[in-house]
Amino acid sequence: MADYRPRTRLVHSGSRRSQYGETSEAIYLTQGFVYPDASAAEARFKGEIPEGEEGFIYARYGNPTVAMFEDRISALEGAEAAFATASGMAAVHAALMCQLRAGDHVVAARALFGSCLYIIETLCPRFGIEVTLVDGTDLAQWREAVRAETRLAFLETPSNPTLEIIDISAVAEVLHGVGARLVVDNVFATPVYQRPLDLGADIVVYSATKHIDGQGRCLGGVVLGSERFIRDEVEPYVKHTGPALSPFNAWVMLKGLETLHLRVAAQTDSAEKVADAVAGHRAVSRTLYPGRPDHPQHNLAAAQMERPGTMVSFEVEGGKAGAFRFLDGLDLVRISNNLGDAKSLITHPATTTHQRLSADARAHLGISDGLVRLSVGLEDPADLIGDLSQALDRV
Ligand SMILES: Cc1ncc(COP(=O)(O)O)c(C=O)c1O
Repeated sequence: MADYRPRTRLVHSGSRRSQYGETSEAIYLTQGFVYPDASAAEARFKGEIPEGEEGFIYARYGNPTVAMFEDRISALEGAEAAFATASGMAAVHAALMCQLRAGDHVVAARALFGSCLYIIETLCPRFGIEVTLVDGTDLAQWREAVRAETRLAFLETPSNPTLEIIDISAVAEVLHGVGARLVVDNVFATPVYQRPLDLGADIVVYSATKHIDGQGRCLGGVVLGSERFIRDEVEPYVKHTGPALSPFNAWVMLKGLETLHLRVAAQTDSAEKVADAVAGHRAVSRTLYPGRPDHPQHNLAAAQMERPGTMVSFEVEGGKAGAFRFLDGLDLVRISNNLGDAKSLITHPATTTHQRLSADARAHLGISDGLVRLSVGLEDPADLIGDLSQALDRV
């Protein structure tokens, strides 16, 4: 499939047809696999797989439906290999912990999803791993933070919820200068609009729960990178610690990939219109959307991302009371902390996803009491703008 364009690869890559010749990929809902004889079992455990065969042993190690999902997302991402996990957080955890050891140093952008921050800030130091948090958009801070013991850096761009853009190529260069690796959480950009591996990152992680499923059904995640990294570091870690993706959820993600490009494009078309509409409302004091010229890193976003994506954040006048009046006035857009769904979802980060942070930390990240984060869905943009406008009028 390598000669085909991304949209074609999303529909066909990774397919494994059974003897029945099914058009739609099968769900192999099985925990184990049987062997034709005892020596075949012995060979498979030794990793001696005959040419043209696949060596499935047990669903925690791998499964044909999961393998189809891994191959299809690898083809889209341009990665040598992938390993699927039960959730996005399992992917982040595995991608980091499979390679870190006591004495290592990690650098991370401060603007991270709360659970990622927990792994970096709370778990890493518990295992003797030192951490430096930096303002991701300030390259000087990355340069200052790295040292000989730095094993890796972790960032997400655009970040949650302020949609800060970090220069992936520049940060990768700093990291590679000290022999360290860059891990990018590419959830907000989606694999359709940003390709971190092409920009110099070493490892990419996804919560497949978001745009890849795209209809709010299943949890899932995936780690992508070089064949050596996936086979020698991620695979043994996930195999033996257990966060395997269920075959059913893998099938949902696999079928989600077939429509990913179309959904994300339609959602981005609407997000562009919605961002301009809310920015023009008198009850909105600040709009954060990488596609708008007033975004602080608009040029970098345009250079690094094919399109600005499906997420729009904005600040409503009147602090928390104003934001709550607005949220409670919405009829169509639903209040939920999830994102990447066909349904438009909105959240108030200061009291939900980022409530664990101190007021000072929130202020440092620009998460004000009036800030709301909108995940734009597949509804007609005119209906979305109508709903958002009538709720903003109440503020
Ligand atoms: C940027 C980012 N990374 C990781 C995750 C974790 O994904 P999951 O909920 O699938 O574990 C999320 C959302 O929950 C997210 O928004």
